[in-house]
Amino acid sequence: MNELQRTLEWHDGTVLMIDQRVLPLHYEIKSYTTYQGVADAIHTMVIRGAPAIGAAAGFGMALAGLQSTAKTRSDLLRDLEAAAAVLRQSRPTAVNLFWAIDRMLRTATDESHDSANDVRNALIREAQQIADEDVEINKRMAEHGAALIKDGDTILTHCNTGALAVVDYGTALGVIRRAHEQGKRIQVFADETRPRLQGARLTAWELMRWGIDVTLIADNASGHYMRKGKIDICFVGSDRTAANGDVANKIGTYKVGVLARENGIPFYPVVPTSTIDLSLPNGDLIPIEERDEREVTEIDGVRFAPIGVKVGNPAFDVTPHKYVTGIVTENGIAYPPFEVSLKKVVKKQ
Ligand code: MRU
Repeated sequence: MNELQRTLEWHDGTVLMIDQRVLPLHYEIKSYTTYQGVADAIHTMVIRGAPAIGAAAGFGMALAGLQSTAKTRSDLLRDLEAAAAVLRQSRPTAVNLFWAIDRMLRTATDESHDSANDVRNALIREAQQIADEDVEINKRMAEHGAALIKDGDTILTHCNTGALAVVDYGTALGVIRRAHEQGKRIQVFADETRPRLQGARLTAWELMRWGIDVTLIADNASGHYMRKGKIDICFVGSDRTAANGDVANKIGTYKVGVLARENGIPFYPVVPTSTIDLSLPNGDLIPIEERDEREVTEIDGVRFAPIGVKVGNPAFDVTPHKYVTGIVTENGIAYPPFEVSLKKVVKKQ
């Protein structure tokens, strides 16, 4: 099968996704015709990355509309609420999931629809709109962020924030990609990102495909390279950013932020406004997903830790805003005090 143009695509009532669990050794495409299947794809990380999760949830809601046999708008709404409840359980940290589901429910309750079928069609249009907007938003963020990168810079990044983490293009990796397209000579140091190795598997693969010079490093090597003066600037993503600029992102991002500050290196999360949660005053209120302990004790099914050992496996951590130089959004770069600047960039939507 040919490669998909995007991380996920809608084809006549079927959602196709690149299976990110098997990259880069295998390129496989999964197809889904039910919202339950989409919820499972999000939970098992066939698809991952906050904006991609949001777009998948949008298509999941569109599938729920098609699955429902309801004849009336009110019966259809009841089925959609049930689907929303299942999708909401799939992963707790990325706010894009809840943002997209709420947006789809608002579409469904729009009074201008005359029939259940009108609602079904509107849901498909809205899900496609979420996906298309995501690509455009990434390109705008990339333009703002690339202005921070100088010719010759070496950039550190964590996890995967490339085209695979969104519908297309990328957030933090989109910024790096844009700088490369602008002809800047750059190098990237990519943290491997234990436990699921998104950096080693996905970021390294994407950067190599784009022709960008990448060096893969173990997570615990980043401090060494920072102290040696090798790193000029850090770009990371976010799964949810609170009103005060505290940034939840892939586990290990906090360490990158602290080490960057210690070494005088600018640290920029790249965050679409759909990932900013102004309802939470600070990052302590962001729910942190705890995942299966086998992600820590095994790699690809091969166990290396002693049987019976206790395991902690938080999927995300919170970098307090004091370590954040600025937050790149599609509406410009927010600088401290973030309480003020984030409100402004969100309002510009
Ligand atoms: O667990 P994942 O792979 O979904 O985590 C992804 C990240 O932490 C990304 O940095 C974040 O979603 C922003 S990506 C565009």
